[in-house]
Amino acid sequence: MSARHFLDVTDLSARDLNQVLDLAEADIAKLGRPLADKGVALIFEKPSNRTRHSMEMAVVQLGGHPIFTRGEEVGFDERETVEDVTRILAGYHHAIAARVFAHSVLQRMAQVSSVPIINMLSEQSHPLQAIADVLTMRQELGGLNNKTVAWVGDYNNVARSLSEACALERMHIRLGCPQGYGASASELTRLQELGAASVEQHDSAVLAAKHAHAVHTDAFVSMGQESETEKRLHDLAEFKVDAKVMAAADSNAIFMHCLPAHREVEVSGEVIDGAQSRVVLQAHNRMHAARGVLAHLMGVTI
Ligand code: CP
Ligand code: NVA
Repeated sequence: MSARHFLDVTDLSARDLNQVLDLAEADIAKLGRPLADKGVALIFEKPSNRTRHSMEMAVVQLGGHPIFTRGEEVGFDERETVEDVTRILAGYHHAIAARVFAHSVLQRMAQVSSVPIINMLSEQSHPLQAIADVLTMRQELGGLNNKTVAWVGDYNNVARSLSEACALERMHIRLGCPQGYGASASELTRLQELGAASVEQHDSAVLAAKHAHAVHTDAFVSMGQESETEKRLHDLAEFKVDAKVMAAADSNAIFMHCLPAHREVEVSGEVIDGAQSRVVLQAHNRMHAARGVLAHLMGVTI
């Protein structure tokens, strides 16, 4: 199938990524209405606040009509196969977006879809979040060139997509993760190959944050990992982003978190609610990022 899909940040070249960021920041009027009279299907197998609202509003801003469906209603591989769901929806809609437990479901959708498939979060990646994250850093750090990003905590779906986006932007990447929760050796090599200015992984939050211009974290227990809660909270306990971690970063560093957040677990209240935090702007940028991605997938250029 020839449709352009967005399952991972690396479906974009570095040039595409910058184009998406520019589209995200462009006046809505300049984008035309590429989705006029068209539908976009939004399927959620997991809860959402930001992703649902930002995607629905981005579709509306491009002239289209979003249709939300809960995963259990569609019943992937229960009510009917992933492939049958996809082929049918592709006849009604101009794009299909899904939040899934298994990334392989998105890959199967992409195999048979004549319209773009968009990943709204899988256990492996969260590329729409990463677009909003680099957009926010570009705005708040005055550009991305030669900037250092730190990720502290679990190298999860959000971390993976963020790191890929930062690599494409040739940033310095510093990861701070306990043993067993970091990026694999092959993932570290891949980040370097994608263009990262440098990649370092430490088993210390303070070391990872050193000289960083942006310090990111996320929940220690992601959706679908609830049965591992006790072990994860124990293993990741030393990786809370607090004032001591932020003090290791650049003096003008910003704090970022995709949300939802757990105060006093992965981040102290003092940090997430303090002057360095950009989490609200970051969340609001989800809508602009979604609009940029949708416009790009519809072939809009500026
Ligand atoms: N950051 C994010 O994806 O939030 P939601 O789970 O609320 O969509
Ligand atoms: N890592 C989190 C992100 C939520 C937006 C999860 O997958 O639950």
